[in-house]
Amino acid sequence: MKVLITGIAGFVGSHLAELLLKKGDEVFGICLACESLENIREIKKKLHLTNCDITDFNQLSKVIKKINPDEIYHLAALSSVGKSFAHPTDTIEANVSGTLYLLEILRNRRKEVRILIVGSSDMYGVVKPKDIPITEEKSLLPISPYGSSKAMCDLLAYQYFKSYGVQTIRVRAFNHTGARQGIGFVVPDFASQLAKIEAGILPPAMKVGNVSSKRDISDVRDIVRGYQLLMKKGKAGEAYNICSGKAYSIKNVLKVLVSLSKKKIRVGVDEKKNRPAEIPVLVGDNSKIKRTTGWKPEISIEKTLEDTLNFWRRKYT
Ligand code: GDD
Repeated sequence: MKVLITGIAGFVGSHLAELLLKKGDEVFGICLACESLENIREIKKKLHLTNCDITDFNQLSKVIKKINPDEIYHLAALSSVGKSFAHPTDTIEANVSGTLYLLEILRNRRKEVRILIVGSSDMYGVVKPKDIPITEEKSLLPISPYGSSKAMCDLLAYQYFKSYGVQTIRVRAFNHTGARQGIGFVVPDFASQLAKIEAGILPPAMKVGNVSSKRDISDVRDIVRGYQLLMKKGKAGEAYNICSGKAYSIKNVLKVLVSLSKKKIRVGVDEKKNRPAEIPVLVGDNSKIKRTTGWKPEISIEKTLEDTLNFWRRKYT
């Protein structure tokens, strides 16, 4: 099986590549020429890597023709909700064009290739308490440029299945974290500061954003296992939430991380981290993916947070 991962050198891409190599797949990956390969340093020799900008249609067409993959995991994206408010054009361009170009290429080539399009719970927007946990039936009403871009990708994936029979699987990932997730997301933002404080690089004072929100947080290793199962067992054209089904308050995530630290920490709020619009609660219903694939989350939030903090400790000691 020839499998292509777009965004292979990213946080999730690197974890997915590790899993697929273990499963015995021949793993191809595309990444930007300027991208760091640090996340895939240990497995690089086992991968077939090509530099490609997914927003360049001609370049992408040539690369897909050459690799001729049987399955595509489309992970490449600008994935920060916070940054998307300052960079809406880049976000929409990278996320929507990249997805559209891949779908166009498949429509004109081998329609039987299965493609997993990674969406986000951010596209559901603000939901009423009665709609929690959120099912796949809920309307997409995003309140961030990132959420809007992912909603468009989800709609395109549906449309290309209906119009042309392209074998799209739409996955709606809720928050996930772990080693290698970059700065700009809440858990690495907290864990990296704690690790720097322990290493004496920063004084024992943390800066945080809005900790009143609640998120459904999974371990990235559980998430990529779910992606692989959906690729095998998901029904083309369908949408699937992937999530723990549990609400974690960001305040509590902070409390657990601080409790794992060896130092006494002061916590202050950095108003600059606040967003123009914020979703207060995102919790998903994972019955559909469980029913379809047998997937269930296996790694506890405590383990995820500890492993992530240890990742940052290794960086700074
Ligand atoms: N990033 C960040 N940094 N967020 C903070 C901080 C901080 O220092 N302090 C508090 N927060 C709050 C944010 O305001 C938000 O309410 C919550 O913590 C989570 O923020 P993020 O980790 O940036 O995630 P997100 O929920 O906006 O988006 C993530 O989840 C989506 C799925 O729901 C991203 O991983 C997206 O790529 C993903 O699609």
